[in-house]
Amino acid sequence: MKTQHTVPVSKNEKHIVTIEDLTHEGMGVAKIKGYPIFIDNALPGEKIEVKIHKTGKSFGYGKAMKFLTSSKDRVEIKDEHLGKVGISPLQHLSYSKQLSFKQDQVKNVMQRIAKMPEVPVKQTLGMKNPWGYRNKAQVPVRKQNEKLVTGFFRKNSHDVIPMENFYIQDPKIDEAILTVRNIMRTYSVKPYNEQQHTGNLRHIMVRRGYHTGEIMIVLVTRTAKLFPTSKIIPDILEALPEVKSIVQNVNPKHTNVILGEENIVLHGEDKIVDTIFDNQFEISSKSFYQVNPQQTEVLYQKVLDYAALTGNETVIDLYAGIGTISLTMAKHAKHVYAVEIIEDAVKNAKANATLNNIDNVTFELGTAEEWLPQLAENGIKADVLVVDPPRKGLEKELVEAIIDIAPKKVVYVSCNPATLARDLALLAEGGYDVKEIQPVDMFPQTHHVESVTLLEKR
Ligand code: SAH
Ligand code: NI
Repeated sequence: MKTQHTVPVSKNEKHIVTIEDLTHEGMGVAKIKGYPIFIDNALPGEKIEVKIHKTGKSFGYGKAMKFLTSSKDRVEIKDEHLGKVGISPLQHLSYSKQLSFKQDQVKNVMQRIAKMPEVPVKQTLGMKNPWGYRNKAQVPVRKQNEKLVTGFFRKNSHDVIPMENFYIQDPKIDEAILTVRNIMRTYSVKPYNEQQHTGNLRHIMVRRGYHTGEIMIVLVTRTAKLFPTSKIIPDILEALPEVKSIVQNVNPKHTNVILGEENIVLHGEDKIVDTIFDNQFEISSKSFYQVNPQQTEVLYQKVLDYAALTGNETVIDLYAGIGTISLTMAKHAKHVYAVEIIEDAVKNAKANATLNNIDNVTFELGTAEEWLPQLAENGIKADVLVVDPPRKGLEKELVEAIIDIAPKKVVYVSCNPATLARDLALLAEGGYDVKEIQPVDMFPQTHHVESVTLLEKR
């Protein structure tokens, strides 16, 4: 018989609770008569007064009103604004604990989802200075008090909180955003109004090459019409000599997706160059490029270590992006076959091969799950196969194709431990030993967990 479970708390009630755990998103979890309450900015062990602000059937949300005790792992946050926007949800947790939190996330899913608790999960490789690391920013532009402002969305809302220092972005990027903001103010550019879907400038996106210093500015507008570009462009170039590319991106849709289809190049080309190890990479406004350049080298070094190439191997790189992993590996392999679904990225990848005089890589446009079985049909055998999928992980057909093509080693780069664990279980069933998992902190101050796994054919 099904019994009726009632929710033991109601909205606006205050309770004293002790935080027991953290969710994978970094929220504190307390239980009231077994009913979980998720609380922002609360750490395990802390005794707090919580005000319930939302109740669902099986869990609720609350706000920490008063801290009766404070965790020894708590650190002071840099800026009260940072606590209101969602860009650094773990900022109140000491960095060393952030690293062990991420290691634990991987251990948990290996136990719970993969049922392989025996697999060694190494300590997360972190940064010396876990701030100012992002090489890309996308900030919303809105009107407040009759002024054009840039900032970030308040958590769970579309209100923009004006911000000048984002702390986790390259400080030169923060500076560029302010400079562009001021120029836009000078020419009375109309900020976007989301409710009414009026106005024009929606977002400012900035990318900066960590090693080259080259900056790309993308002005995302609602209509193709754009303010006095003949004045704005020279002003930007004069104020920011590192700017190599200015692109207008038109997004006429009423949507949360930042970039639209159409690009209009206003200065230079739709690309900047950055380097990873000793390769140069052309990056365009729409292509995927790792956002933490320092940790990208740590991550890729781990991929190289696990692959242990001697120069004679055939390598397959699935989900290749602009070819950063493929070209890094090509220097140590006989041949690399790579596939990527986005056309612009494939173009970048091919150009990047040429740029670095690398001719032992074949880039193809397609989906990993359709392309790999074809490669197998054409009789290609691989020694090492690398995958670096988006959050949803590998398609089932792809796992089957990997097992069919039977590479000696699989190196799995993952940004989502849950789908990683699911896929590792399938690969283990298909004859692979999961040797070791190395988490790498690509996103300090956030809950995102990146890792590299080595699998070997039994
Ligand atoms: N390895 C690259 C990119 C990883 S991001 C790097 O380290 O920079 C994942 C990439 O997979 C993105 O470029 C995305 O466009 C691509 N992608 C997504 N789904 C895909 C699919 N089904 N087949 C091939 N590529 C896909
Ligand atoms: Ni029941």
